[in-house]
Amino acid sequence: MEQNNGDDDLNNRTKHHRRPITMRTKFAGSLSLANIILIATIILYHCEIGASDEHDHLYSSNDEVVLWMNTVGPFHNRQETYSYYTLPFCKGPKKGISHHHETLGERLQGVELEFSQLDIQFKVNVDKTKFCEVKLTKFDVQSFEYAIRNYYYYQMYIDDLPITGSVGDLEETDKNGPVYIYTHKKFDIGFNGNRIVDVNMTSQQKVKLELGSTLEFSYEVNWRPSNVKFEDRFDKYLDPNFFQHRIHWFSIFNSFMMVIFLVGLVTMILMRTLRKDYARYNRDEEMDDMDRDLGDEYGWKQVHGDVFRPPAYPMLFTIMIGTGWHIATVTFLVICFQIMGDLYTSRGSMLSTSIFAYAATAPVNGYFGGSLYARFGGRRWIKQMFLSAFALPTMVCGTAFFINFISIYYHASRAIEFTTMLAVVSIILFIILPLTLVGTVLGRNISGHPDNPCRVNAVPRPIPEKKWFMEPSIIVMMGGILPFGSIFIEMYFIFTSFWAYHKIYYVYGFMMLVFLILTAVTACVTIVCTYFLLNAEDYRWQWTSFMAGASTAGYVYLYSFYYFFFKTKMYGLFQTVFYFGNMALFSAVLGIMCGTFGYVGTRAFVRKIYSTVKID
Ligand SMILES: *[C@@H]1O[C@H](CO)[C@@H](O)[C@H](O)[C@H]1NC(C)=O
Repeated sequence: MEQNNGDDDLNNRTKHHRRPITMRTKFAGSLSLANIILIATIILYHCEIGASDEHDHLYSSNDEVVLWMNTVGPFHNRQETYSYYTLPFCKGPKKGISHHHETLGERLQGVELEFSQLDIQFKVNVDKTKFCEVKLTKFDVQSFEYAIRNYYYYQMYIDDLPITGSVGDLEETDKNGPVYIYTHKKFDIGFNGNRIVDVNMTSQQKVKLELGSTLEFSYEVNWRPSNVKFEDRFDKYLDPNFFQHRIHWFSIFNSFMMVIFLVGLVTMILMRTLRKDYARYNRDEEMDDMDRDLGDEYGWKQVHGDVFRPPAYPMLFTIMIGTGWHIATVTFLVICFQIMGDLYTSRGSMLSTSIFAYAATAPVNGYFGGSLYARFGGRRWIKQMFLSAFALPTMVCGTAFFINFISIYYHASRAIEFTTMLAVVSIILFIILPLTLVGTVLGRNISGHPDNPCRVNAVPRPIPEKKWFMEPSIIVMMGGILPFGSIFIEMYFIFTSFWAYHKIYYVYGFMMLVFLILTAVTACVTIVCTYFLLNAEDYRWQWTSFMAGASTAGYVYLYSFYYFFFKTKMYGLFQTVFYFGNMALFSAVLGIMCGTFGYVGTRAFVRKIYSTVKID
C-alpha cells in the first residue's frame, strides 16, 4: 500500500519500514574502528542484511508510529522468551512490514520484533477500537491458561521505548480458580515537540477464558504533551533507589579501604626485601665472600636460579594470559562506552558493542600472549596464535550452542538462526584471527626477547617440603577470597539487572570503580601469596599467581548458586540451563581476567625483587 501525499519525511520513513532488508547500525556512535569492522560484517552478511539510515526518532503529525510486539514469557524466567504471536493473539488490520530486522546483538539476545498491525499515528488520538477477535478453540484456551497461570508477561516497543504488560490475571484468593485475560490495551503516549518521550500502557477489561467464546481485542491511544526531554526519556526505567542504595556506596567505600590496606601491605613487603638488600650492599666492604654467600641468603633468594624458569604448559599459560589481557581491554572499553553513551537505551547494542570491541582489540591478545610465549622460548608460535584466537570464542560459542539446543527444543525466541551463527563464525575467522596474527607478530618482534633479571639454572632445584598451608593449591584457594569480597555486592547488582525485569543497570561509574578496585586487589593479594610461596622456596609462581587470581571466579560461581536459590524464582529446564550455563561462562571469563591481573601484578613484583639479587 503506497501513501502518496507528498510528505517526504513520511515517505522516507515508510520506505525505511518497508525496505525488506534493514539493519540498524547503531552502536556507540563514535567508534570509528568498530565502524570499519561493522562494514566488514555487513559485507559478510551480504544479501542477508544491508545497511540503512538510522531511525531518527523524529515524527510529524499523522506519521505512522509502529507498535512492535516483542516476546512473551514467564515473569520469573526473564530469559525464557517466546515470540509474542506464539500465543494465539491476533494482529490488527493494518498491512505493512511484518518483521523487524535486527542487529547482531538483538538477534543473539532473542529479540523478535513483529509488527502489531495496529494503526497508530503521531498525535492522533484513537478511541477504544476493536482490532481483531479470536474465537477460542480448545488449544487457544489451553495456551492462554498455561500462560496466565505462569504469569506470562509480554514486551512491546514504541519508538524503542519498552512497554511491558501481563497477559492475564488470576483470582487473588483462589489460584486454581478461573483465569482472566486482558483484552484492552490503553496507550498514553507523551510527546515533546516532534518526539515521543513517554509511553504508558494499561491493560484493561478482564475477560474470563471460556471454550467457544470470542475474545475481542481492542486498543485506545491518547496523546499528551509532556515536558520530559528526549534525552531523559529512559530515566523512568531506571531505579535509583535500588542501584544507588546506601549499601552500594558503602561497599565501594569498603573495597576502596581494602585496596589501601593491601597496597600498604605490598609496599611494606617490597620495602622490607629491598631494604635488606640495601643494608647488605652497605655492609659489603666489611663482609668477606663467605659471609655474603652463606650468611644472608634465605627464602625467596634461594630460588633465583629457578624463578624465571618457564611454567609448565607454557602454551596454555600464554593463551590464558593473552586472552585475559584481551578480556580486560574489552571490559574496560565497554564500560567506558557505557559511561559515555548510555548504551542501555538501545536494544542489544551492549552485546553488539562488546562483540565489535572484542574483534577490534584482537591484536591485544596476540601481542601479550605471543610475546610471552616467545620469552618462554616456545617454538610453535603459529599453533599458539591459533589457539589463542579461538580459545574464548570457542568457549562462548560452545555454551551458546549447548543452550541453543534447548532453545530449539522449546521453540524459544533465543534460538539462534543459522545465518547469525554464520555471521559470528565469519567475524571470528576473518576479523579476529587475522588481527590476532598481527598482534602476535608485533609482540614477538617488539617484546619477544628473554629479559629476565636472573639466569635460569640448567638443573631445576628440588622443592623442599613445606607446611600444608604453603601448598600452591591452598594458596590458590585463599587468593580469591579478598577479591571476591571486594566485588560480590556489585555482582548482586549486575546479576539482578540481568536476571530480573525492570532493573536496567545504568551505574557504570560504579562498575568502573569496582573494575579498578578488583584489578588492584587481585594484583596485591596474589603478590602477597607469591611472596609466601617463594619464601617457602617453591618457584612455581606463574601458575600459582594466575590461579590465585582466577579462584575469585570460583567464588563468584558459588555465589551464583546462592543467588539462584535464594534471590530468584526461576524454574524449568530452559531457564535453569540458561542460568547455570551463562554463569559458568561469565565466571570463566572473569576468572581468566582476574588470573591475568594476578600474574601481571606478580610478575612485576618478582622482577623487581630479583633484580636486586646479585648473581655470581
Ligand atoms: C505515565 O505514568 C506516569 C506515572 O503514573 C505519569 O507521571 C505520566 O504522566 C504518564 N504519562 C503519560 C503520557 O500519560
